Amino acid sequence: MSSRLSTNFTNLEFVNPFVLASAPPTESKKKILRAFEAGWGGVVTKTIGLHPVENVAGPKTIFQRTSDVKPYVSRSKRPDTVPHSSWNWELISDQPLDMWLPDLKEIKAIYPDRMLIASIMAGAGNDEELDNWRKLAKSCVDVGCDAIELNMSCPHMDRKDMGANIANDEDVIRSILHAVTDAVSVPIWVKLTPATSTLVDAARAAYEAGAASISLCNTFPSLPLMDPETLKFEVEVDGWVTSGGLGGLAILPQALQRVSDISRAFPSESVSGIGGIRGFREAFNFIAHGAGNLQFCTAAMEEKGSGGVGVKLIKELTDDLEDFMKRKDYSSIEEFRGIARERIVEHSKVRRKSDNYNGGYVAAE
Ligand SMILES: Cc1cc2nc3c(=O)[nH]c(=O)nc-3n(C[C@H](O)[C@H](O)[C@H](O)COP(=O)(O)O)c2cc1C
Repeated sequence: MSSRLSTNFTNLEFVNPFVLASAPPTESKKKILRAFEAGWGGVVTKTIGLHPVENVAGPKTIFQRTSDVKPYVSRSKRPDTVPHSSWNWELISDQPLDMWLPDLKEIKAIYPDRMLIASIMAGAGNDEELDNWRKLAKSCVDVGCDAIELNMSCPHMDRKDMGANIANDEDVIRSILHAVTDAVSVPIWVKLTPATSTLVDAARAAYEAGAASISLCNTFPSLPLMDPETLKFEVEVDGWVTSGGLGGLAILPQALQRVSDISRAFPSESVSGIGGIRGFREAFNFIAHGAGNLQFCTAAMEEKGSGGVGVKLIKELTDDLEDFMKRKDYSSIEEFRGIARERIVEHSKVRRKSDNYNGGYVAAE
């Protein structure tokens, strides 16, 4: 693979900046091996925890589509539709840590040049849970994982001390980071929820406590749609539904804005961009806003015939990025990373039609 595409991100050498996100494409050894064979630069494993997991008794993920002809959003199969989003209420991995560890060791032995990042999650608020974070991190690093991603962003956790429920709490973020950085010395990525008005504060707490990077975004909290005729939700179990996570194209502009916020507030820190990336154009936009690494989920899951790991997708991504960089004479993504940053300004800084505008205009929302 071309050295033009290789990147150093959080002190790790990636053969290309494209990584499968923590989700079904990285839920098993078989899928991860297939992903590496196809050319992905790294994977973040499906989140590994210590608490027992049992998913709902129905589909865990649906893919919603829309169309120009009848532009409503639905999972129903209709002609002439295009992808809109994924919606899921899947929990973290149901494979126990003891079963993950030999798998991770084997994957790293087969693909030593690919980056293997373990996503982990435990609770918060007491020493026992902090020990759980330490145990998860140390076990994964001991079998060869190159980095750890802390999942502080799953949007559908009932436990108030887990997932997105803790992402607002700067003390909790700091305490978990201190526990994990005491236990291991690999780079720690922190995956935060986009569903907070205090994202920049949460990111600051994470960076100050030793995070090597922020991964943004996890899915946005959302509900599936109800059919007006049948009064059924598009996904439900016994008539019940709960808030789940929206991913895919529909979240792209919002995810870009979150990455831009973090990258402008902390221009010398690292960000891994996630959310609605289907190909080179979306990946380019994340890099332009400052991301040094890109993660993919829905687009890989939706690809037919490749076992949901994006075999065609990674080929297209690397070909298109290579072609772009050759045409523009870039030798590294660092040469165009962050080029959009300075063009994001306050509303009042944008030119008006009249010459005597004094900058005091207050926009009506
Ligand atoms: C079915 C499904 C399961 C997911 N499970 C996890 C998970 O275990 N841990 C995690 O950090 N993110 C999880 N995610 C979130 C993805 O990693 C990613 O952040 C999100 O889908 C946005 O990226 P996308 O628009 O490319 O799908 C999951 C997403 C989906 C669709």
